[in-house]
Amino acid sequence: MQKTILITGGAGFIGSHVVRRFVRNHPGYRIVNLDKLTYAGNLENLTDIENEPNYSFVKGDIADQEFINELFSRHSFDGVIHLAAESHVDRSISGPMEFITANIIGTVNLLNAFKEQAGNNEGKLFYHISTDEVYGSLGSEGLFTEETSYDPGSPYSASKAGSDHMVRAWHHTYGIPVVISNCSNNYGPNQFPEKLIPLAINNILNSKPVPVYGKGENVRDWLYVEDHAAAIDLVFHRGLTGETYNVGGNNEWRNLDLVKLLCKIMDRQLDRKPGTSAKLITFVKDRAGHDMRYAIDNSKITSALGWKPSVSFEEGLDRTVRWYLENEKWLEGVLSGDYRDYYHKQYTER
Ligand code: NAD
Ligand code: TYD
Repeated sequence: MQKTILITGGAGFIGSHVVRRFVRNHPGYRIVNLDKLTYAGNLENLTDIENEPNYSFVKGDIADQEFINELFSRHSFDGVIHLAAESHVDRSISGPMEFITANIIGTVNLLNAFKEQAGNNEGKLFYHISTDEVYGSLGSEGLFTEETSYDPGSPYSASKAGSDHMVRAWHHTYGIPVVISNCSNNYGPNQFPEKLIPLAINNILNSKPVPVYGKGENVRDWLYVEDHAAAIDLVFHRGLTGETYNVGGNNEWRNLDLVKLLCKIMDRQLDRKPGTSAKLITFVKDRAGHDMRYAIDNSKITSALGWKPSVSFEEGLDRTVRWYLENEKWLEGVLSGDYRDYYHKQYTER
């Protein structure tokens, strides 16, 4: 029997890779992509699959309860893969309310609608995509496991922690089948150029300063986005109900070292004299409450589900830089808001 799967946030960075993977690899599924098309959501990311017979798009806001209830009254979803969220820490510092609304209220609206939808929930699954940032900040030692206590430090991570708690509460109280994964920092094609890697690429390309917060000593654990999409596919199909899986690539980098590596790759790909891009590195005021280090212990997902990252960092960064250099039009389209205006006109509000 054909299954209908709702993917929220499918026009965003990770969501678009997940949608593409599911549309292509699971032709027996009808994939419904629900996205508000915020500044970060862009249907240009999906032009290669937009005409596939098992794909459809719905523009809408997960924080709009009436809209969500109406959507779930029209479809009975066998699965929900929930990625829609406000996702940038710096924006959460300057404007936290948007994060509370989208990430917490939005998630609860989906949980309620899923709970109330027609038919029983046997064989169905609500899969919540979350972040390792819910665990807070590590010192120089240790890794986040699934048992690490929650200790979110930013409005973004607190809103994601809140949404994780809601998902577990709906499982515990109402018995809805859920699974959660908490992933480390992703990078790759289609990431909005406000996050470190695409921002640095765009600035180097345009010979603009590359801002490094504080002393550049903060550490992140980087994973190529397609490896995350593969993990999501696996958890969705093989993850155990009620469980949590941490996803990460055992790939820790200090921000400054990462930016220096990017500069080298950019010099090479742009045919610039070695050392040209590194001159753009500029230390700027630190982020308020900047978490020092994130690092994932991925032993549960590797041993229980057989997942492992397949793209080395050097290869992934090389591919990512190449993609941005070959897609300057995409960069212009997302930064100017042109794509946003275009796709908003195509899909009228309800
Ligand atoms: P993104 O900002 O690139 O994309 C988010 C998408 O959600 C956009 O398409 C946006 O239009 C949509 N959206 C936002 N608010 C919405 C709303 N109210 N209603 C409907 N759609 C809405 O984010 P991303 O980096 O692709 O992250 C996707 C998910 O993965 C998020 O839940 C994030 O917390 C999580 N995550 C991200 C990372 C990372 O490194 N980027 C790591 C771990 C987990
Ligand atoms: P970011 O990509 O925003 O992801 P997150 O804050 O969710 O980890 O930032 C990654 C790291 O890079 C983080 O330690 C903050 C730092 N950073 C900079 O040094 N300069 C920048 O311009 C940005 C956007 C981030």
